[in-house]
Amino acid sequence: MPTTLIEPFRIKSVEPIRMTTRAEREALLEKARLNPFLLRADDVLLDFLTDSGTGAMSAKQWAAIMEGDESYAGARSFFRLEAVIKNLTGYEHLIPTHQGRAAERILFAVATHPGDLVPNNTHFDTTRANLEVDGVEAVDLVIPEGLDPKNLHPFKGNIDLEKVAELLEREGHRIPFGMMTVTNNSGGGQPVSMANLRAYAQLLKRHGKPLVLDVCRFAENAMFVKLREPGFADRSIESIVQEMFSLADGCTMSAKKDGLVNIGGFIALKDDRWVEAARNLLILTEGFPTYGGLAGRDLEALAVGLEEVLHEDYLRYRLRTAEYMGEKLKAGGVQIVEPTGGHAVYLDAKAFLPHLGPEDYPAWSLANALYLEGGLRGVEIGSVMFGKRLEDGTETYHAMELVRLAFPRRVYTQSHFDYAAEVICELKAKAGEVRGVRIRKQSRFLRHFTAEFGWA
Ligand code: F0G
Repeated sequence: MPTTLIEPFRIKSVEPIRMTTRAEREALLEKARLNPFLLRADDVLLDFLTDSGTGAMSAKQWAAIMEGDESYAGARSFFRLEAVIKNLTGYEHLIPTHQGRAAERILFAVATHPGDLVPNNTHFDTTRANLEVDGVEAVDLVIPEGLDPKNLHPFKGNIDLEKVAELLEREGHRIPFGMMTVTNNSGGGQPVSMANLRAYAQLLKRHGKPLVLDVCRFAENAMFVKLREPGFADRSIESIVQEMFSLADGCTMSAKKDGLVNIGGFIALKDDRWVEAARNLLILTEGFPTYGGLAGRDLEALAVGLEEVLHEDYLRYRLRTAEYMGEKLKAGGVQIVEPTGGHAVYLDAKAFLPHLGPEDYPAWSLANALYLEGGLRGVEIGSVMFGKRLEDGTETYHAMELVRLAFPRRVYTQSHFDYAAEVICELKAKAGEVRGVRIRKQSRFLRHFTAEFGWA
């Protein structure tokens, strides 16, 4: 029996990618002010910046695009998507948005007040920023194992229930709802167990607080539950997903991940507590409630994507991709966040570049070095993303310095990953040459997208 786990698809449409020389990349990165976000994608060989909106759609999704009903109000495509989402979530109300952060902005605007506090395993950067801009404190309470890159806990995305209980006792009056991010992107793409989710939901309920899930990668999380949590091995992914949603009261979704589409998102809510206010805000800033910032064809492609993402052969290949990369990197002596998450491999930059201090932004420096070495683009999840320059000019630093290599869905083949692993392992052998960086220019929110850097 062959044991190689193959890509469960064949390729019908291809896009060329372009190799550059080291000298070209040096000039291109300088021009981008040492910020890989400011590179042109054509100048990147393998783009692991994000798994968001970068996936390949299936023939079925492209066919569905032609079925799009572009009516302004009451489009058939909305009802098709609504039926799919109702089946998965059991929630009554669907509010489509153009992507995840629009869902966050709208929900937070109607469901929070300045001075509130929202607990989460780890808020993603847009989630945190959308709370903070409303004057709400975003509190990360992932279990301690989730902050230790070497710890092999099977559900490192779990929330620390004792800390949640304590927070509810102490600050309950400030908490409008609890959140949980599945999988925990900023914490390493790590899954949340059903048991942890259930206990968290019950704890919140005892205090009269609803639970809102950030479900960008709900299917990958469900596959981890199937593979790792006792009692789920024989369950269908669909039924695991349905159980997960049943524990919560609503969700925000960036469909650019497990929706298998290039743009899209939504809010789905179990009861009508926030619905009317959210729809009114949607009309003001996104669009009419039956399309909410998307075209009818986008709604169709998403309806198909949400069904395809549940296929077990797809999910098995998906999780194996990260695991395979992880195995190759570890064999080359590269320290990564273990076990590998669903959508990405996270390099531990402090271990990779022990000669750099926090003020050198090691993870940012490593991301730059990967581009220079082999045309790879990853993203820093460290002190540029999560640190801050305070009013008095001092810097705060993040606990972990990671570079995330996130994998677009159904886009790259095994040889692309083999090449990437070789580049990283070769860089590891000369890591001492990698230089640190300093921030030269930055914005107040989400500074990593636009900041400009110079060499340390
Ligand atoms: N929540 C999580 C957990 C995310 O990973 C993202 C996006 C969002 C919310 C926001 O969704 O981009 O559609 O507005 N993550 C992307 C990433 C950008 O690269 O991880 P969005």
